[in-house]
Amino acid sequence: MQQLINYHQMAHRLSLVLALILLLLPLLSHGKDDRSRPFEFLRHLEGCRKGETVKGLNELKRYLERFGYLNNHKDDDDFDDLLELAIKTYQLNYNLNVTGSLDPETLKQMSLPRCGAPDITNGTTSMRSGKEKKHPHERKTLHTVSRYSFFSGIPRWPPSKTLLTYAFLPGTPVSSMRPVCDRAFQRWAAVSRFRFQETQDYLTADIKISFERGDHGDKYPFDGPGGVLAHAYAPTDGRFHYDADEKWYIGASLDGYDVESVAMHEIGHLLGLGHSSVGNSIMYPSLLMGTQKLKLDQDDIDGIRSLYA
Ligand SMILES: *[C@@H]1O[C@H](CO)[C@@H](O)[C@H](O)[C@H]1NC(C)=O
Ligand SMILES: *[C@@H]1O[C@H](CO)[C@@H](O)[C@H](O)[C@H]1NC(C)=O
Ligand SMILES: [Zn+2]
Ligand SMILES: [Zn+2]
Repeated sequence: MQQLINYHQMAHRLSLVLALILLLLPLLSHGKDDRSRPFEFLRHLEGCRKGETVKGLNELKRYLERFGYLNNHKDDDDFDDLLELAIKTYQLNYNLNVTGSLDPETLKQMSLPRCGAPDITNGTTSMRSGKEKKHPHERKTLHTVSRYSFFSGIPRWPPSKTLLTYAFLPGTPVSSMRPVCDRAFQRWAAVSRFRFQETQDYLTADIKISFERGDHGDKYPFDGPGGVLAHAYAPTDGRFHYDADEKWYIGASLDGYDVESVAMHEIGHLLGLGHSSVGNSIMYPSLLMGTQKLKLDQDDIDGIRSLYA
């Protein structure tokens, strides 16, 4: 379990810590590098293109399968047609140039810390490319088109279910987490038909919030510091897991992630939203260290309203 430190306390400590860090910088950056970067393998793949065989491409295939871009991939280092197609779909979803090759912009995007939920579920729905297939003339009206998505099969809470209860796994630092999650739930409540209420009964709660480490009993093990930060399940599962190996803060911080921003995003999944390719939306998959993102974008609001219309 990581400490939760509030921003103001942190500011007080900052000058002292900063001096220390400056002294230790060469040491720290050297020692930390490998452990804190699950997506580090991407760095060696720049410039790879179709037809080549390059060590590390099998890790890229695993990465792309994990996030929904490949299905039963061959565990080899060959840059084949399927890999190229997967990269093109990824580039479309993240508003990159669709080159099908591992250019620096694509690798940079892939290296960012992100949500563990896949961008594409069951090979059908997706953030952007799926919609483009359905609407070939979309490009003309790019700026007016919503980019939200749903999970495959469009799982939803039943119409009668407007009050969702949530609980923290016993042992969670509830006094820190309670106000954070309350604020996040209220923002979603303001734009949807849902109300949210904390309950002490973890077993019967609709939404179960916990910090988990590594392989934690579902099919989606966490990966240590960096990489995947959290994940949550589509309705009506209710599980919401933070990666306990991240440094979690309340508010933007220099070296960790904001619990409230991540709560905003994962609640969207708990309600049935998939990922969006709108960079400013809450449902965009990546979150940078040191940033806070709390405001629902029009795309998020359109998504939740369309899902429960
Ligand atoms: C896309 O390609 C154009 C032209 O080569 C370049 O100027 C632009 O920076 C590229 N954009 C991205 C996101 O890579
Ligand atoms: C996945 O897609 C297949 C074929 O389109 C469909 O039969 C199946 O029900 C889908 N599964 C889910 C979980 O949506
Ligand atoms: Zn997500
Ligand atoms: Zn999990």
